[in-house]
Amino acid sequence: MSEFLIDISLRVNGEPVRERVEARKNLADFLREDLSLTGTHVGCEHGVCGACTVRLNGEIVRACLTLTVQCEGAVVETIEGLSDSGEIADLQEAFTRRNALQCGYCTPGMLIAAQDLLTHDASPSRDAIREHLSGNYCRCTGYQAIVDAVEAVARQRAGATS
Ligand code: FES
Ligand code: FES
Repeated sequence: MSEFLIDISLRVNGEPVRERVEARKNLADFLREDLSLTGTHVGCEHGVCGACTVRLNGEIVRACLTLTVQCEGAVVETIEGLSDSGEIADLQEAFTRRNALQCGYCTPGMLIAAQDLLTHDASPSRDAIREHLSGNYCRCTGYQAIVDAVEAVARQRAGATS
């Protein structure tokens, strides 16, 4: 069967990108295979685990459920972009300090989801943190340390702005 190719242009982590992609290619595979942005992980590939979470026009999405061609003209931010800009440096530090990652497979998606929560709710309850991260699976940590880390960063940011 011949491939159906489509030209697309978008911005990824602040850089303009122009590529010709298969119409059926999802955003997670595009980021990993075409742009070598392998920090976006692929777990379940059907929208359940959250490992592929990225930001699309400022909102978090499942990259495995997003077709690349849907991103024409869009702004995509991955874990590499958020790391390089320093936007989530405090979350990364807290995850490390509080043992909120072990194998690290879930961590990029977890960090992006946590940052999304903290940008919408500066002082979330532990229940709200659990609720917001409930779409991101972690096989290692038991979640307690992740909630601790996110709560600590919320307090830290609140202290920094008060
Ligand atoms: S790989 Fe996308 S939600 Fe699991
Ligand atoms: S740290 Fe291993 S899956 Fe979360």
